[in-house]
Amino acid sequence: PRSIFFSRHGESLYNITGKLGGDSDLSPRGLKYAEALPGLIAKHMDGQKLTVWTSTLRRTIQTGQYLPYPKLQWKALDELDAGVCDGLTYEEVEDQYPEDFALRDDDKFNYRYRGGESYRDVVLRLEPVIMELERQHNILIVSHQAVLRCIYAYYLNYTPDELPYIKIPLHTVLKLTPRAYGCDVELYKFDI
Ligand code: G3H
Repeated sequence: PRSIFFSRHGESLYNITGKLGGDSDLSPRGLKYAEALPGLIAKHMDGQKLTVWTSTLRRTIQTGQYLPYPKLQWKALDELDAGVCDGLTYEEVEDQYPEDFALRDDDKFNYRYRGGESYRDVVLRLEPVIMELERQHNILIVSHQAVLRCIYAYYLNYTPDELPYIKIPLHTVLKLTPRAYGCDVELYKFDI
């Protein structure tokens, strides 16, 4: 049966400094992951056809750059837009927007960043991606944690309350295989 593979982008420079959003490049470790990804995928594909979908941001494009498969960029796979908080650390957000910080903690699924998005918004903008996924063969999605939480929650039936807290590990390929009831999940971790 067909499977959906997905991965977060490799570690980025913003990941290192703890900043939200942005469009930074991969760190040296992130680049190592990008280099390892073709081997990691080939090992679990046994020669089947694959298409790679990335977001339009540098860190996912760079993560997919060595993969020898057709690629497509989707704006809908871009990271949750943190609006005015883009480029800040969580500490700075708490400092500069204390009410927002509390509101988000209260209802993380519905909280919408000023000038940005909520998880609910991301779920909605992912609808066309998920529709297309259902019609395709093997797809590898290279995207961002918040976005992958939404896709993962769709296939694994997580509730809106649980969704924003799902842990999608860095430098790991997840393989989802939909079954008659539920979905099998396999994880392939790359240690750097
Ligand atoms: O890596 C950060 C994710 O995009 C989501 O962050 O837990 O604040 O929504 P969050």
